[in-house]
Amino acid sequence: MSASDRGARTGASGRRSAPVDPLIAAARQVRRHAHATYSGFKVGAALETQDGTIITGCNVENATYGLTICAERVAMFKALSDGHRRFRRIAVVADTADPTPPCGPCRQILWEFGGDLEVILANLRTEKGRHRLSALLPLPFDARLLK
Ligand code: THU
Repeated sequence: MSASDRGARTGASGRRSAPVDPLIAAARQVRRHAHATYSGFKVGAALETQDGTIITGCNVENATYGLTICAERVAMFKALSDGHRRFRRIAVVADTADPTPPCGPCRQILWEFGGDLEVILANLRTEKGRHRLSALLPLPFDARLLK
């Protein structure tokens, strides 16, 4: 199998770049569907279940502004609605030089339903970092405290 068969790409420099993680590729793809009429800030997210299924989501804005929902929560709610309950990783993609990490409410929802996910941040060209959700949301409020 050749490097290009494994997903490796040859850049403008002629050097071969690493194969693209399929989760990042899925987040880049779904970002095209973002409904970001008001902010112009398009985001794509791809959530990987324990069995390797990829569920995607994009941000959806609306005229009230406040009812906007982020790409990460769309992906998680789609996954839950499809019956998925166990998750491994989520990739978040925006067209920014600096990584775009999940907002506070998304961290809360991802923690409650996804646990200590690996959170992969990327833009349209490169990966920008990998974090555990527990590092992004230290000292979380969750169901354990309701007992
Ligand atoms: N947004 C996301 O979808 N995910 C993030 O991680 C950051 C922010 C969206 C919400 C809104 O539609 C736009 O980006 C600007 O905040």
